[in-house]
Amino acid sequence: MADMSGKVALVTGASSGIGRATAELFAERGCRVVLAARREAELAGLAKSIASRGTQATAVETDVSVATDVEKMVQHAIDAYGRLDFAINCAGVEGKTYAIGDLPEDEWDQVLDINLKGTYLCLKYESRAMLKCGNGAAIVNVGSINSFLGYPTFSAYCASKHGLIGLTSSVSAELAPHGIRVNLVCPGIIDTPMHRRARKLFGDEAYDAFLQNSVHMKRAGQPGEIARSIAFLCSDDASYVTGTTLTPDGGFHLTV
Ligand SMILES: NC(=O)c1ccc[n+]([C@@H]2O[C@H](COP(=O)([O-])OP(=O)(O)OC[C@H]3O[C@@H](n4cnc5c(N)ncnc54)[C@H](O)[C@@H]3O)[C@@H](O)[C@H]2O)c1
Repeated sequence: MADMSGKVALVTGASSGIGRATAELFAERGCRVVLAARREAELAGLAKSIASRGTQATAVETDVSVATDVEKMVQHAIDAYGRLDFAINCAGVEGKTYAIGDLPEDEWDQVLDINLKGTYLCLKYESRAMLKCGNGAAIVNVGSINSFLGYPTFSAYCASKHGLIGLTSSVSAELAPHGIRVNLVCPGIIDTPMHRRARKLFGDEAYDAFLQNSVHMKRAGQPGEIARSIAFLCSDDASYVTGTTLTPDGGFHLTV
């Protein structure tokens, strides 16, 4: 296991699911962590719980779709710890299901603003800080199996996550000469509050049948399994890996 002690890791979407598991894992591996999301109370509780286990953690309420919030979030990390080594852009929403003819413009805007524009804003301010720190760094964006697969009635989510492939490859090429690596993790079906909301949206039975038919490992993944993929991409074990997509999905993408 690569040593991450003394590093500073910023995690968006840290109040829940994959982001929370990632923040906990990075803290366990010795990173000082900066927790960002919209729900301040959950973040404060997590920061306290991490600190009680002996690692420094600080929380910053952030809406990733708002530029001033994102700028403030990154500044918070620099003010707290003086550097930024890892950034994990995990905040996201699934939105609601609509046939394309019924998809309201404000629903489209909300999903794209958080999932795609939010990641662009994070990359903008994180890369500025990392370039100033000048000590090499790694960023992981969180896409989805829907970064390369569509799903009927889920077009806003799928479009936002497809966009992350182009965003990640462009930015990774731009930052590679500066020693900053940028990669994309595309989880399959992971047991988080988002997954439980999706089950309700599509219907429990239909969703479970879909999982059994499409996931070759025949189970949902756990948030910690995605956190470990993210940690690998941030660590020196992946020191020559940039602009790539890692797909921890239990074999979902293997067949149609
Ligand atoms: N759970 C899955 O099956 C699955 C599969 C593929 C990809 N993903 C992706 O993984 C990421 C995390 O999802 P999860 O399953 O842990 O979901 P979750 O709902 O449990 O957590 C989402 C997190 O994002 C935060 N968030 C939402 N909107 C935000 C905003 N505007 N600003 C800041 N924070 C915001 C929430 O507060 C929460 O902390 C998302 O990007 C999601 O699209 C999840």
